[in-house]
Amino acid sequence: MPMPPEPSNATSRENAATPGNEQALYGMILENIDRAVIAFDQEGRVTLLNPAAEALMERSSKQMRGRHCQELFKDQETLLYLVKVALDEGRSITDDEGLYLHRVNAAPLPVNAYAAPIFASRGNQDGAVMIIRDLSRIRALEDSLRRADRLSMLGTLAAGLAHEIKNPLGGIKGAAQLLSMELGEESALRDYTQIMIKEAERINFIIEELMDLGNPRPPEIGDVDLTRVLNDIILLQKEAARSQSIRFQLKLDPSIPPVQGDESLLTRLFLNLVKNAREAISHDGEVLIETRIASNYHMTGPGRRSSPMVDITISDTGCGIEPEEMERIFTPYFTTKSKGSGLGLAIAQKIIEDHHGLLKIESSPGQGTAMTVSLPLRR
Ligand SMILES: Nc1ncnc2c1ncn2[C@@H]1O[C@H](COP(=O)(O)OP(=O)(O)O)[C@@H](O)[C@H]1O
Ligand SMILES: [Mg+2]
Repeated sequence: MPMPPEPSNATSRENAATPGNEQALYGMILENIDRAVIAFDQEGRVTLLNPAAEALMERSSKQMRGRHCQELFKDQETLLYLVKVALDEGRSITDDEGLYLHRVNAAPLPVNAYAAPIFASRGNQDGAVMIIRDLSRIRALEDSLRRADRLSMLGTLAAGLAHEIKNPLGGIKGAAQLLSMELGEESALRDYTQIMIKEAERINFIIEELMDLGNPRPPEIGDVDLTRVLNDIILLQKEAARSQSIRFQLKLDPSIPPVQGDESLLTRLFLNLVKNAREAISHDGEVLIETRIASNYHMTGPGRRSSPMVDITISDTGCGIEPEEMERIFTPYFTTKSKGSGLGLAIAQKIIEDHHGLLKIESSPGQGTAMTVSLPLRR
């Protein structure tokens, strides 16, 4: 190892990397990076794991150290293949195509992985190292953007169509009103003209709702106390759920400062999500609302400072969502309910987007759903 240059003054003496503290620095970096680092010996047994690896695998270092990679990544062909190439062929290799890390006690995690041989000082190979990166946040962001994109396209299309329908519809309603007047008070035919007017008004209402989705009012930003908003929603939903036996639970972090947002839009957003959670439960079950400060930061837009996020999770023990329905549930008017409007999630997505937030969905059919809204604390 090359010797560090002679320090020229007292300050640089303190910062200079002597071989001893360089080792310590290596250790500290491993402790602090957010990538999982797992080292294997030449036989493929785990020799070292950093804290991020423990967090990602949801198992302690003690449980994993000494285990063979076959056991650690049981039935995970791609990960095993990466370790094998690094160990047997002595070359580095990456995979980031739709890779999932399967875990014993937790849901599969989208990741990318890199494996490389470790060379000892004399150039002999001495095991391999694997670096795994958690992509769940990135995937959530991509999903959210894709949904927003599709929605804005649909919104533009719908707004155009709605505009085109509104004029002839106005003509129909006007004509029906004239006809009604011509017929006079006593005519039995007036029942029919009343139906025509009422139905024309109903179509008009649907169209206005749709135009609202395509081009809603801009948010009026102020301080929003999430705890109060969520408490109010629960109060209302408890009333609506009287015929079912649903337990509503709130676990709110009292230290969360007010978020910057539009109170009435955020209320509408959480009301839609809590309502969906309640409606997903047929008889009895539980709806849980949790808030917490997320451990990561998020950019709210290009060129902006990144902001800490607050996560609001609404989970239910309801029917869950089938994987093939996952994409469709955000489409306006898609509903699986006899009296559903199918607009709840489309509106929710739009409001989240206007607040520079993210939405993450986890669901198991037959077991329940958790929807997590992440909102930036600063704008
Ligand atoms: N928490 C949930 N659990 C199960 N399914 C859900 C949940 N939230 C939404 N969905 C599904 O998404 C669909 C669309 O939801 P939404 O846009 O709110 O419209 P609506 O509630 O009027 O049907 C619902 O019909 C339902 O199938
Ligand atoms: Mg709904």
